[in-house]
This record gives sequence, structure tokens and C-alpha cells, in this order.
Amino acid sequence: MSAPAQKTWSAQDYETNARFVADLAGPAMLDLLAAQPGERILDLGCGDGALTLKIAQTGATVVGVDGAADMVRAAQALGLDAHQMDGMALSLDAEFDAVFTNAALHWMMQPDNVAAGVFKALKPGGRYVGEFGGFGNIVGLQAAARAAMQANGFGLPDGLPHYYPTAEDYTALLTAAGFDSISAQLIPRPTLLPTGLMGWLNTFGDSLLPGVPADQHQRLFDAMIDLLKPSLCTPSGTWFADYVRLRFSAQKPQR
Ligand code: BEZ
Repeated sequence: MSAPAQKTWSAQDYETNARFVADLAGPAMLDLLAAQPGERILDLGCGDGALTLKIAQTGATVVGVDGAADMVRAAQALGLDAHQMDGMALSLDAEFDAVFTNAALHWMMQPDNVAAGVFKALKPGGRYVGEFGGFGNIVGLQAAARAAMQANGFGLPDGLPHYYPTAEDYTALLTAAGFDSISAQLIPRPTLLPTGLMGWLNTFGDSLLPGVPADQHQRLFDAMIDLLKPSLCTPSGTWFADYVRLRFSAQKPQR
């Protein structure tokens, strides 16, 4: 999870409200990566290292990078080789057999730079596999944030600091960066929020309210919860986020 420029991630807060991010996608993504003992793997946007650790347990050598200092410290505390690095400005050269990324690319607003950096970081024939928010991700949450902003007299932003491409657009981007054997698909995934919508909003909600002063966020979160309860909360009180994932794999050509 690489942090957007204005957000400082807290590893403790992430552990409380977003542990499900690694838990849910982890097994399928690790299967897709299929790390082999002795391989060198880069975990791009490694967050607190929960999945990086799983990759290391396959016998591969794994390096984690993340933009958020607190997350990198949490990953290092697990004994992982983790470094603070901007995913949009990777400085790694033909070092890795595979690059893995989970729930991080939607925070990186220069996706061409990310793809170019990953391509350079891979050995010839290297694999790039990942999952992140795709087109249609959190549309209900976004609409509720806009409605709450409007109702409280705040101007509406043109867009959010999130990147949610279609499978076709992301395939085109990877092709332009030089990758081949590309597969990409959108996967709608309503996602249970173990600490409810308020937990999710406390961790991620600021990014839905650009331009709104921080001392007003709680008030708008309350309004969003009222707006979303009929559609994202079950009658028994379980909240879901309207996630859509873009899962992809690609290869750097042998030559
Ligand atoms: C996501 O994982 O899709 C996501 C998380 C936080 C904010 C926006 C999107």
C-alpha cells in the first residue's frame, strides 16, 4: 500500500481496519505469483509486509518497497528486507524474477512511470502480477462522499487521487511499456468490513474528501454512513465496501 502524497499511513490503524486487504486477495494472488525457492521477488507497495512474509515463506528472496515510512518500519519489524521507495520512481535494474503488487497501484497516479519502473526492475522473461482497484471501484462510496460534500456546502473535486482503469486501458498501458503475455480482468468483489464503514472511513476516508478541512471529516463520514446504510449494510448490520479489483499478469519479453 503506497501512500498518496497527502496521507500518512499508520501501520497500527491499518492493522485494525484493513487487515482484510491482505487476507482476502492473498491466497489467490500468491497462487498467481507462484514464487519458486531461490527466485528474487519485488513486492511493490508491500505495506506492513503481511503478504511479503508469505512470499518469503516460499523460499524466494523477497524485497518490499513502500512509500509510507510507518508501513516500511512494520515490515522491517517482521524481519523483512523492506525499503521506503516511491513506486512511481523505482530505481531498480534487471534484478527480479517477478514483481508482485496487491492493493497498491490505485494510489499511484503516474501509472506509466510505475509500469516503466517495473519493466526495468525485471530480468528478461520476468513476471509482473498484481491486483488493485479497477474501473467502478467504490463508486457508491465516492457518490456518497460527493453528496455529503455538496449537502455541507463544500465544492466538488474534479476527481480523486485514485487510479481505477478498465482491463482494456490497463492492457494498453502494459503493452506500451513493453510487456507481453498480458491478461487482465475486472472482478467485482463486495468486501466485508470487519470494523464497519466507520473503521474503513477512519483509515481511508480522507482521500474521498479532497479540499475538505480535516476537522469536518467526521461530520461528513457520519453523513456518508446515513446515505450508504440502505445499500452497503445488511439488515443484520454487516457493512460491505463496493470494491472492484483489476487482476493482471504480464511478462517482460525474453529479449
Ligand atoms: C481499495 O482498496 O480499493 C481502496 C482502499 C482505500 C481507498 C480507496 C480504495
